[in-house]
Amino acid sequence: MRIGTPLSPSATRVMLLGAGELGKEVIIALQRLGVEVIAVDRYANAPGHQVAHRAHVIDMTDGAALKKLVQREKPHLIVPEIEAIATDALIGIEREGIAEVIPTARAAQLTMNREGIRRLAAEQLGLPASAYAFASSLAELRNAIDKKIGYPCIIKPVMSSSGKGQSLIKTPQEAETAWNYAQSGARVGLGKVIVEGVIEFDYEITQLTARASGASGEIETYFCEPIGHVQVKGDYVESWQPQPMSRTALAAARDIAGKVTDNLGGRGIFGVELFVKGDQVWFSEVSPRPHDTGMVTMISQVQSEFEIHARAILGLPVSVEMRSPGASAVIYGGLEAKGIAFDGVDEALRVPGTDVRLFGKPESFIKRRMGVALASGKDIDEARQRAKLAASKVRPVKGL
Ligand SMILES: Nc1ncnc2c1ncn2[C@@H]1O[C@H](COP(=O)(O)OP(=O)(O)OP(=O)(O)O)[C@@H](O)[C@H]1O
Ligand SMILES: [Mg+2]
Repeated sequence: MRIGTPLSPSATRVMLLGAGELGKEVIIALQRLGVEVIAVDRYANAPGHQVAHRAHVIDMTDGAALKKLVQREKPHLIVPEIEAIATDALIGIEREGIAEVIPTARAAQLTMNREGIRRLAAEQLGLPASAYAFASSLAELRNAIDKKIGYPCIIKPVMSSSGKGQSLIKTPQEAETAWNYAQSGARVGLGKVIVEGVIEFDYEITQLTARASGASGEIETYFCEPIGHVQVKGDYVESWQPQPMSRTALAAARDIAGKVTDNLGGRGIFGVELFVKGDQVWFSEVSPRPHDTGMVTMISQVQSEFEIHARAILGLPVSVEMRSPGASAVIYGGLEAKGIAFDGVDEALRVPGTDVRLFGKPESFIKRRMGVALASGKDIDEARQRAKLAASKVRPVKGL
């Protein structure tokens, strides 16, 4: 494995498609390894734009625009950071050998659509998952619930993330509202929804799983300690590591994560989302990239999920070793304004064992994730208390 000098003919060039807070950390990790980084997002001054060698603003769902930019920048590696990308273009770019897509163009394509990944996991790989059905109209949805899924159930657009367009319904009267809400929350107007039976889990985890070069040079699978998290309306508010699990549940989680990441292939980190009840584990979904709940690893692991991703994609060895129990708590915008400021960062950092990341997003919304508080502790309870306390000390205010 050879790494060149940035901004010279020998440069190793990596293009991030999506330059939010997760991309920003991957870019910082790549910068430390002397990689030339090109950050792409749909708006100017995205977090990752601010730390890359070059920044571009394009509509990444526009395949022609994407391909044109790739031909101009000539990256060696293309690293999707978000789901909403013209994955057909990525397939073409990979096939023509123009650049390597991380982990693979197929993984990006399958995971951007809930139908693709759910059919792969449940039908092809036989992994345990909630009951599910797909529907392309309100009538089909009603029929699927009546004949197969029952109540309560969860309705989600097949193409959406962060809980957008999702609803949990308990009665047939709510089906129409849920259908309409899914249409409004879909990323593209595909109209299709997945309806899932509700899993009454004890807790849910992200099993970060890395595919990276092992001692022999072959790709090996590495499992991070499980990350527990709390979701509110499909958006993560708090996470911690390690989540205590029974031996049987942990083995089942790793078996599922191993199978699905093996099938998706390539190199890099994956966030495998799982539901756990006692010793039983269900597959929910997988991101072939760093996971938001994995921001905790910036304090809890020797190498964060971002450093692991950067190393893995470059063909370098990785470590999933823990540093200490840790936690993360999200800092929301709390107001709608551009160019906001943050008070109380000093108070947050006076909480023992804490750190803060402010993402530098140009515009704040009430529920937009603007930063994260991180904390270590003697155990996850202490770490969680510290992270939540630190997050509460940071007060977004109107800027100048
Ligand atoms: N079948 C289910 N049974 C129980 N809870 C569920 C089910 N599906 C989703 N949830 C809950 O809703 C959350 C969000 O669902 P899901 O991960 O499918 O949506 P998402 O939009 O991809 O969210 P994100 O992008 O934040 O991961 C889950 O983390 C879980 O808490
Ligand atoms: Mg999810």
